[in-house]
Amino acid sequence: MSRPAVPEALKRPALRRAKQRADALRADLRRRRARHRFAAALTALREIAPADPDPELLEELRAGWGDPDSAPAGLLAAAISHFRAASGEGVECGSGLSTVVLGVYAEALGRRWWALEHHPEWRARVADELARHGLRAARVLEAPLVDHGGHRWYAVPDELPERIELVLCDGPPADRPGLELARYGLLPVLGDRFGERVTVLLDDAGRPGEQSVLALWESAGLRWSSGSAERQFAIVTRD
Ligand SMILES: C[S@@+](CC[C@H](N)C(=O)[O-])C[C@H]1O[C@@H](n2cnc3c(N)ncnc32)[C@H](O)[C@@H]1O
Repeated sequence: MSRPAVPEALKRPALRRAKQRADALRADLRRRRARHRFAAALTALREIAPADPDPELLEELRAGWGDPDSAPAGLLAAAISHFRAASGEGVECGSGLSTVVLGVYAEALGRRWWALEHHPEWRARVADELARHGLRAARVLEAPLVDHGGHRWYAVPDELPERIELVLCDGPPADRPGLELARYGLLPVLGDRFGERVTVLLDDAGRPGEQSVLALWESAGLRWSSGSAERQFAIVTRD
């Protein structure tokens, strides 16, 4: 005996639910694979740190992390190299993959890496990632954006070191109209903590906003050079 046909009107919601379940399962599988890929690459990085990583390993970490806005491999390599050459603690503006990667080097070098983060959910994600991998040498500090007398920049948390030798400047976000000079505040707010020798690695240095920030910093006594052939980031030092 043939089964009675299911009316079309009943079929459609059931099909839609089945498709949603399949999409959710596929997305979950992609997340698990990326997490596994990231964990494997991070293990490889911990095995070689504090030696320099291959560019391929940094690319693998970026692929596993899965955020197209994470620091490019060239900038991560430069940050690692400057952190190794420095003797003090490192600070970064805007957390993410770089916090985890530099956390590995902080652990291997017996030093600390501090990240400022204004976005609560993003801060929680990065802090979870550090905890998942047992990286205690890096900390991501809650730092809302506040008015510093004419410009918005991170509120300075009490834990931040008094002496800063290296800054990776990849925040606050400056990719929307009106936010072009968002990264300028680093110098007026934290400049008095810069040591005699200080290096600031500024991401996205080819953008007009960052070019203006570099010009403003230059007029305040910092000098800079391009850190990559593609002008992806600038290396800023004190005269
Ligand atoms: C360009 S990201 C890069 C941060 C870091 N240097 C890295 O290597 O991943 C800088 C800022 O963008 C924001 N951000 C990036 N991705 C985000 C996301 N998926 N959701 C919310 N905020 C995000 C965070 O506030 C973060 O501090």
